[in-house]
Amino acid sequence: MSVDEVKIVLVAAACAVAVGVVGLVAAWLVRHRSIRWQLGLIVVVSIGSVLVGVVAVSRMMFISRHDWQVVSLVAAVAGAVAFVVALALGMAISRWSEDLRRGARTLDAHGSYVADPRGPSELQALSEELARTSERLEESRLREARLEESRRELVSWVSHDLRTPLAGMRAMTEALEDGMASDPSRYHRQIRAEVDRMVRMVDDLFELSRIHAGVLRISPEPVVLGDLVSEAIAGADPVARAHSVRLAGSVEDGVRVTADPAGLSRVVGNLIMNAIRHTPADGSVVIHGRATSDGVEVSVRDQCGGLTPEEMTRVFDLAWRGEGARTPVPDDTGVGDQGAGLGLAIVKGIVEAHRGDVRVENVGAPAGCRFLVRLPV
Ligand SMILES: Nc1ncnc2c1ncn2[C@@H]1O[C@H](COP(=O)(O)OP(=O)(O)O)[C@@H](O)[C@H]1O
Ligand SMILES: [Mg+2]
Repeated sequence: MSVDEVKIVLVAAACAVAVGVVGLVAAWLVRHRSIRWQLGLIVVVSIGSVLVGVVAVSRMMFISRHDWQVVSLVAAVAGAVAFVVALALGMAISRWSEDLRRGARTLDAHGSYVADPRGPSELQALSEELARTSERLEESRLREARLEESRRELVSWVSHDLRTPLAGMRAMTEALEDGMASDPSRYHRQIRAEVDRMVRMVDDLFELSRIHAGVLRISPEPVVLGDLVSEAIAGADPVARAHSVRLAGSVEDGVRVTADPAGLSRVVGNLIMNAIRHTPADGSVVIHGRATSDGVEVSVRDQCGGLTPEEMTRVFDLAWRGEGARTPVPDDTGVGDQGAGLGLAIVKGIVEAHRGDVRVENVGAPAGCRFLVRLPV
C-alpha cells in the first residue's frame, strides 16, 4: 500500500468514527422512537461518513472541485434512495409489530391468537410465543369454567344428597314414632348408616373448606410408611371383603416420610376406598410404597377398566364424579354409595399442603388405573 493510500484510509476512518459517534448519540436520543428513525439514522450515518470522508480526502489530496462534487452528488443520490428504502422497511416493520400488538390485545378480550408468518424472524418468534400463550390462556379459561361449573354442581348435589337421606330418615322416624314399623331394628340400622354417611359428607365438606380457605394445618412428623399403609389396608379390609375385592400391599423396608399422619392416612384411605369401589368383584387392589430419589411414592392400582383422557383431567376436580349415576346407593359399609365427588379433591389438597403431587395414569392387563402420590421427604 502506498503512503497516499494509508493516509486515505486513516482520514476516512477518522471521519467515519467521528460521524459514527455523532450517530450513536443521535441513536440514543431517538431510542424510544419508531424503528423507522433508527433505520433512517443508519442510512444517514453511512452516507454522512462517505460524504465527510470524500470532502476531507479531497481537501488533503487537492482533488479537483469537479471530481469531489461528482462523488458527493453520487453519494447524496444513493443516500436519498437508501433513505426511502429504509423508511419503507421501517414502515413495514412498524405495520407488522402493530398487527402483533392488535393480536395481543385480542387475548384479554377472550379472543384467540393465531401465529402470523409475516415479518422478520424475531417478530415471527414473538408471534409464535403469543400463539402459545393464547393456547395456554384458552386452556386455563376452560379449566376455570369447569371449576366454576363444579362448584355450582357441588352446591346442588350436596343439598340433594343431604335432603334425600333426611327425607328417608324422617319417614322412618315417623313410622317408628307411630309404631307402624314392621321391623324397628332394621330401621334403626338404616338410620344409623344414613347418619354415618351424612357425618362423613359434612366432615369432607369441612375439610375441603379448610383446604380452600388455605387454613389446612398439617403437623408433619416422621412416619413409617409401611405402618401407615398396613393400617389403611386393615381399615379397608372389611369393605374389600364385602365387595369380594382382594387387597394387597407392599412397602419397601424402612421407608420413612415426614408428613401429617392423619392427613396421609386420609389420602391413602380415600384412594383405597375409591379403588375398591371401582374394581369389580374378584378383582384386586394393590398398594405399593417406595422411596424415590427425592421423596416417597405411594401408588394405588385398581381394575377400574381405565379412564378416558377427559376423566383423567377431571377426577381431581371438586364435586366431579364421573358420568355415572348421581343418586347415592347407601349400604352399611358406605363404600357402595356414590360420594359427593369430594374425596380426590381432598386428597389433592392434603398432598399439595405437603408440597407433594398426585396424579393418575392408566395401566394395562387387567385394565385399570393407578393413583400416584409423591411426597418430598
Ligand atoms: N380408583 C378409581 N378408578 C376409577 N375412577 C375413579 C377412581 N377414583 C375416583 N374415580 C372417579 O373420580 C370421581 C371422583 O372421585 P372422588 O373425588 O373420590 O369422589 P367420590 O368418591 O365421592 O365419587 C369418582 O366419582 C369416579 O368417577
Ligand atoms: Mg371417593
